[in-house]
Amino acid sequence: MPPSPEEEPLYRKQIDRRLLARLLQFVRPHRSRLILAVVLLVLLSVAELAFPLLMKTGIDRYIKTGDTAGLLRISGLYLGLLVVVFVLRYTQTTTTQGLGQRVMYDLRMRLFRHVQRLSLPYFERNPVGRVMTRLTNDVEVLNELFTSGLVSIFGDILILVGIISIMLYLDVKLALACFLVLPPLVLATLFFRARVREAYTVIRIKVAGMNSFLQEMLSGISLVQLFRREKASAERFDRLNGEHRDAFLRSVRAYAVYFPVVELLETIAVALILAYGGSRVLDGTLTLGLLVAFIQYSERFFRPIRDLSQRYNILQGAMASSERVFELLDSQPRITTPRDGRTPDRVEGEIVFDGVRFGYKPDEPILPGLSFRIAPGESVALVGHTGAGKTTIASLLVRFYDVWDGSIRIDGVDIRKWDLHALRRRIAVVPQDVYLFSGSARRNIGLLDPSVSEERVLEASRAVGAAPFLEQLPAGLDTELRERGSLLSVGQRQLLSFARALAHDPSVLVLDEATSSVDTQTELAIRRALRVLIRGRTSLVIAHRLSTIRHVDRILVLHRGKLVEQGTHEELLGAGGIYAKLYQLEFKIQEGLGLDEVSAG
Ligand SMILES: Nc1ncnc2c1ncn2[C@@H]1O[C@H](COP(=O)(O)OP(=O)(O)OP(=O)(O)O)[C@@H](O)[C@H]1O
Ligand SMILES: [Mg+2]
Repeated sequence: MPPSPEEEPLYRKQIDRRLLARLLQFVRPHRSRLILAVVLLVLLSVAELAFPLLMKTGIDRYIKTGDTAGLLRISGLYLGLLVVVFVLRYTQTTTTQGLGQRVMYDLRMRLFRHVQRLSLPYFERNPVGRVMTRLTNDVEVLNELFTSGLVSIFGDILILVGIISIMLYLDVKLALACFLVLPPLVLATLFFRARVREAYTVIRIKVAGMNSFLQEMLSGISLVQLFRREKASAERFDRLNGEHRDAFLRSVRAYAVYFPVVELLETIAVALILAYGGSRVLDGTLTLGLLVAFIQYSERFFRPIRDLSQRYNILQGAMASSERVFELLDSQPRITTPRDGRTPDRVEGEIVFDGVRFGYKPDEPILPGLSFRIAPGESVALVGHTGAGKTTIASLLVRFYDVWDGSIRIDGVDIRKWDLHALRRRIAVVPQDVYLFSGSARRNIGLLDPSVSEERVLEASRAVGAAPFLEQLPAGLDTELRERGSLLSVGQRQLLSFARALAHDPSVLVLDEATSSVDTQTELAIRRALRVLIRGRTSLVIAHRLSTIRHVDRILVLHRGKLVEQGTHEELLGAGGIYAKLYQLEFKIQEGLGLDEVSAG
């Protein structure tokens, strides 16, 4: 079960300086763009503030005196300024958005590279959906921080301060009359902000909930259909979907109240100016132009206030996102390559497990102290009950996890002293469940490794007997395979993953045989392929079908993480221990099937 998204804060109470400082580091490479955006914003604000003043001059200086030429001049100026504002706004928008997109690009690449390096335990703790959200949604929200957050908030405040100063400068009393509407405006804004934030929090939680639910449902769609869970699934989705709709409607209602309230207050402000200012115009203590300019300023006054109320929410959402993004960036891979790690040209392939203690959870060792040695070029099989720790051994060998105690050595060198890439380059693991990437069969074998040539891919698929069926696919080896490997049967997928291992020509081969059963013909094909695979290299074959491993040099029997028997097939049969029992069991099952066939006939 993925942890519910409710666990994570969607908004931060505070705007965190430290987080901002870290974010700004991503802006640094693009600082010239940021400076340009801010400069443009200042110019834009100044230009916008000039319009009412032009109006005032037009009325007081030219209309009053009947100066037509002057009036034309100032109208021209007004028009010219409009064009300037248009150009400024265009440049400012593209600059700011460009900044946001560039920062987002950098951040995503950083996150992507980082996530690829993280060790397996991280992904066991964090569901896939969550990690994906970091790279998609959270980075997107961070972008808002730049585009409609920081820069715009700066612009809004600039305009507000500008208007207030100009109003006070032009006429203190009239300005104060206009500011009478401010207290109710602030109250309405605070109330609105809280309501909308609440609704948005719920919306985001529900979207995240729908995402993870859908991801799970779609991945298990065959189970849903097999067990006829469609109705139950639809009911769960119905609930999430309904809650999302209701939250959205709540935010709509909040907007539907807030915007008319702001409009009402705006009109009241104009009425106040008109009543008080108008009477002063009649007194002759105020010019008509000044009155008109005041009305225009008061109209411009409300827009930034309205915007600010939303931008603060955006800022807080972005802070929460940035916290999560940095948390991901800060999680260090536990398994790292050492400085001056060993990168040998040739690997003989001697494997030594020396008193290896390991478990997935503290105090629950799966391997309580395992020791064995595999000589260079030797092929060894590992058998044991399910859960005995066989796959665990394979994972330790390629350092998906590090041992608690003891050591694993290859060619006499502790694998923790190896360069991680060199180690994994020389050891090929054919995992228990075959995973196919979307892409051609050819690509799935070569994995875009430049050191694996086209011929090697062909050779490998021929050698393991994958070529016949691959060539029969609609487009041969260039047939697109999908993640779930449709087009290929289980046995065929296994042969393909053999080809993958062989094409990379490892020094050490670890084969974790799939538990799923395949028909006799495929089993024979797999057995043949295996013989090709282990030829001339150290190999560790984890087998579930004992028939697969009769020709290996030695068999190790694992029981609860301990080595209980070892020897050749004949030796172990003669000893009459666990292996002998396992073998008899498998033999009996086969015999039983045979008998059934006889009796049926
Ligand atoms: N990622 C993991 N996190 C926690 N416990 C795990 C993890 N992987 C395996 N285990 C536990 O470790 C034990 C050994 O698992 P392992 O996969 O090594 O068994 P196995 O011998 O490969 O079994 P099988 O024959 O079924 O493949 C099991 O009890 C399992 O529950
Ligand atoms: Mg296993």
